[in-house]
Amino acid sequence: MYFDSAATSFPKPKEVKKAISNFFEQELGSFQRTDTENSDFIYETRRKLSDFFNVESPSSIVFTSNSTESLNIIIQGFLKNGDHVITTATEHNSVIRPLVKVKHEKNIQITWVKCDKYGFVNPDDIISSIKDNTKLVIMNHGSNVTGQVQDVEQVGQRLQKYDGKIKFLVDISQTAGHIKIDNSKIQADFLAFTGHKALLGVPGIGGFYINPKVDLPPFKVGGTGVLSELLEQPKAVPLKYESGTLNSLGVLSLYHSLDYLNSLTTDKIASDLKKKTCYFLDRLSKMENLEIYSLENPLGIISFNIRGIVPSRISHFLSKDLDLQCRTGLLCAPFIHEFIHNNPFGCVRLSMSYETTWEEINVVCEYLKNINEQAESIQNIKFPEIYEMPSIKNMEEYV
Ligand SMILES: Cc1ncc(COP(=O)(O)O)c(C=O)c1O
Repeated sequence: MYFDSAATSFPKPKEVKKAISNFFEQELGSFQRTDTENSDFIYETRRKLSDFFNVESPSSIVFTSNSTESLNIIIQGFLKNGDHVITTATEHNSVIRPLVKVKHEKNIQITWVKCDKYGFVNPDDIISSIKDNTKLVIMNHGSNVTGQVQDVEQVGQRLQKYDGKIKFLVDISQTAGHIKIDNSKIQADFLAFTGHKALLGVPGIGGFYINPKVDLPPFKVGGTGVLSELLEQPKAVPLKYESGTLNSLGVLSLYHSLDYLNSLTTDKIASDLKKKTCYFLDRLSKMENLEIYSLENPLGIISFNIRGIVPSRISHFLSKDLDLQCRTGLLCAPFIHEFIHNNPFGCVRLSMSYETTWEEINVVCEYLKNINEQAESIQNIKFPEIYEMPSIKNMEEYV
């Protein structure tokens, strides 16, 4: 059973599988490096993504290999010496590590904003942290640990009063494909997305939206396939950021997965996952030894612990007895655990998709009920060494 959709989606739509296997039968040549019609699907995929996120134009969509690359390009490229940035306790290491790197290299000031016990960040805390030198606000739209979705629309709208002085970067790695991303409401200057999660594409494709008015230097320069007479990097977006041969196979996967998602609709996916998480939580709440960290959510995430049992032990049982795949531990988000109260071991994360069946959910709930009943006998298993956990409370600025 597959309960690890928040890590990467499975299964992919049959349209995607078919397109990938046909890929090798076609003479598609070198994409975007010729003027043939073959590269049209690259443009078409940009167009589909710009519609999907409701942003101005297809050329504001840049392809990269994943969210991590997009976040690095934006964070390392945009922030300059002495800038102040505001971010949250729910961020993934794909934001935290580039931020810590620029903090040391460029003397960047960072304010870390806390979250509540389910991972919700209060927009007031973001806005009240703004200073004269604030240049960027970074928010994880949906927590990969608890499934909590943030009110990025409120933050984006409140940032408008700063006349474009403060840019807004939203990490939509977990939300894109699960809920409607309408950037006319969020008004983000950057949206970082990855293709292999709920967007249902293959690993190795991702990208970002960039507000055409924002000046961001490229991270890498080199072959773009066109304008070869220029010795410097072309200035036009998306070419400016897309040096080197594109992952056309990955783009093709998105071309087809977006059609699938559009016909299914994110409304239907979000409502399905809300129902599933609601049912799951209802069952878990009746088990006395369970600590639950998620509320009903459209991301399909259920995080919990069984008191006294280290999370990796539970995933070991689930894998051995049910052949179930899930994730445990800190889940690449080291700060949030202090606020949801499961430091230092993190939690068990079961993450579902539209394809997860009610029968599978019932099997897992029944199994957890049994483990819960035997918890006392399992609790004796020795806990590993406790390591020191990083805390935003020990960082320079904390709200
Ligand atoms: C919230 C969040 N941001 C960023 C990432 C990084 O995504 P990728 O590994 O595809 O770059 C993930 C992946 O787990 C995530 O959940």
